[in-house]
Amino acid sequence: MLLSLWVALIALIHCAWGRTYQYAPILTIHGINDECDPAIVDTLIDGLRTYVTCFAVENHKDALVSMFYSIEEQGRMLWDFIYADEELKDGNFSIMAVSQGSVLAKYAINECPFKYPIRTLVSFGGPHMGISGVPGFHRSNIFGRFVGWVMDQMAYWDFFQYYTAPGGYWRAPNKEQDFLDYSTFLAEANNEAYFNQTKKDNWLKLKFARFIKWEEEDTIIPPESAWWGMYDKNYKILNRHQTEFYKKDLLGIRKLEESGRADFMEMGGRHMQFSHDNIHDYADDIFRM
Ligand SMILES: *[C@@H]1O[C@H](CO)[C@@H](O)[C@H](O)[C@H]1NC(C)=O
Ligand SMILES: *[C@@H]1O[C@H](CO)[C@@H](O)[C@H](O)[C@H]1NC(C)=O
Repeated sequence: MLLSLWVALIALIHCAWGRTYQYAPILTIHGINDECDPAIVDTLIDGLRTYVTCFAVENHKDALVSMFYSIEEQGRMLWDFIYADEELKDGNFSIMAVSQGSVLAKYAINECPFKYPIRTLVSFGGPHMGISGVPGFHRSNIFGRFVGWVMDQMAYWDFFQYYTAPGGYWRAPNKEQDFLDYSTFLAEANNEAYFNQTKKDNWLKLKFARFIKWEEEDTIIPPESAWWGMYDKNYKILNRHQTEFYKKDLLGIRKLEESGRADFMEMGGRHMQFSHDNIHDYADDIFRM
């Protein structure tokens, strides 16, 4: 009697254990000079009871890697990380990307040939059209303009392109040709340097993409980059609808939006200010798709 109870109990536990998750696994990708935050992973697990993991190179080195390895190199590390994970290696997982993590998410969507496409993307404060300013140095004052000018001169030097991450997504608004010729990541990744249908197709396979911009964004310059906006060559802000990138729909973002498979949300606070409630409010519904 006791024995059969035990057997029944163990069978029950085993069933619950072996049950496949209701929702797709989630890969979280952190930002620059940062590392995996177990609290974010736990928050997602709390809300969705699914498999959640965080891309880490090696925790105590993550911050350095995120700054001084090129996006291409970090992208290849991400690729290895994904293929080494049983839950992720076939695709069909969702991504929560924060800040520069969104650039790596772009790498994964563009480059990794999964058996099944990536399901959904939720991006908090991602520099999708790059950055054109140094945090803390705003173009509204003369010193900030000077710092920006210096960066525009140097950003496409090999050093910045190959030994820093932000170099890979620096957009010098009045040096478009240099951007197209020398950017080691963004110009190609956004299909701006030349068009590659595979990348666009991969974006169009997403079930849904959500792009969140912080209301008081102070690190991604211009903040509209989080919604695929950018500066024109005179440093006037173009929203996404005004860019050639969107009008020509180089990466499928327009089609995603027009077919109701992308939305653009604003969230209170400055760069990286978000609470666990925010994660539930802004991400859970997408990850349930
Ligand atoms: C992808 O994940 C969803 C949600 O977990 C699941 O319902 C679906 O069957 C999966 N598709 C494949 C091809 O595994
Ligand atoms: C297009 O992009 C895919 C994915 O990044 C890549 O595998 C392929 O080689 C690219 N094709 C060309 C012609 O560059």
